[in-house]
Amino acid sequence: MGRIELNSWKEVTDFVEQGFLQVPNWMFEHVVQHGNYYPAHAFSKGQLASKSWLLQQLWHANTEESWPAEVAILGSWIGSLNPFLQKSFKPDRVYGIDSDPDAIEKSERLNQQWVQDGWKYKGVVHDVDMLDCSNMQFETGGELITTKPDWIINTSCEHMSTGWFDTVDHDQLIIMQTNNSEEFEGHINTCHSVLHMQEKYPMRDVRFVGEMKTPVYTRYMQIGYK
Ligand SMILES: C[S@@+](CC[C@H](N)C(=O)[O-])C[C@H]1O[C@@H](n2cnc3c(N)ncnc32)[C@H](O)[C@@H]1O
Repeated sequence: MGRIELNSWKEVTDFVEQGFLQVPNWMFEHVVQHGNYYPAHAFSKGQLASKSWLLQQLWHANTEESWPAEVAILGSWIGSLNPFLQKSFKPDRVYGIDSDPDAIEKSERLNQQWVQDGWKYKGVVHDVDMLDCSNMQFETGGELITTKPDWIINTSCEHMSTGWFDTVDHDQLIIMQTNNSEEFEGHINTCHSVLHMQEKYPMRDVRFVGEMKTPVYTRYMQIGYK
């Protein structure tokens, strides 16, 4: 099991700076130029550290595989993971799926270059609890889409039931993060340990499992197949 212990915010910052995720200049400038448009906590140290950890472990877990044609990010919020996925894994298309229309509008603005490039990124307003991940059907941009994404990413598991996991098929790679933080608004389904996560979200072929302890909460991640 992978374990990262970051006992101070200085250690979290160091992890981000030495890590896998390099925030490109355009993204930094775009977010600064748009003032309060994007929620500041989407770019907090904890967020950057957790996304960096995800990309690093996904890179290692995926070495024998081909790159994904289609990726779905469930509870994608403002879509801040997409630029890093595009750089590292070059998917044909990423669907960012969130029930909040405002978050999806922001995600399309942040990822405008990929939206305009043949929908390499496309935002979707949809309740994840109402989706069948093995046979997704939704409407976006005036089109009715039916798809079975190669990768299902969910870093918002604590915000929703386990229903999405139940609908994932055996040949879809799952990349999921949850955490033990019950204080935050909307955290309706937290986990209190790696074992607890594995009981709730059982996988037959685990490519990575681990935890990242930060000064205020512990994040859990697993990557693999059901
Ligand atoms: C605060 S954000 C992301 C936090 C997450 N820990 C992360 O690091 O990415 C959680 C997102 O999940 C979305 N969400 C919650 N329940 C959902 C559901 N049933 N279907 C789709 N999106 C959902 C919210 O709208 C929100 O944008």
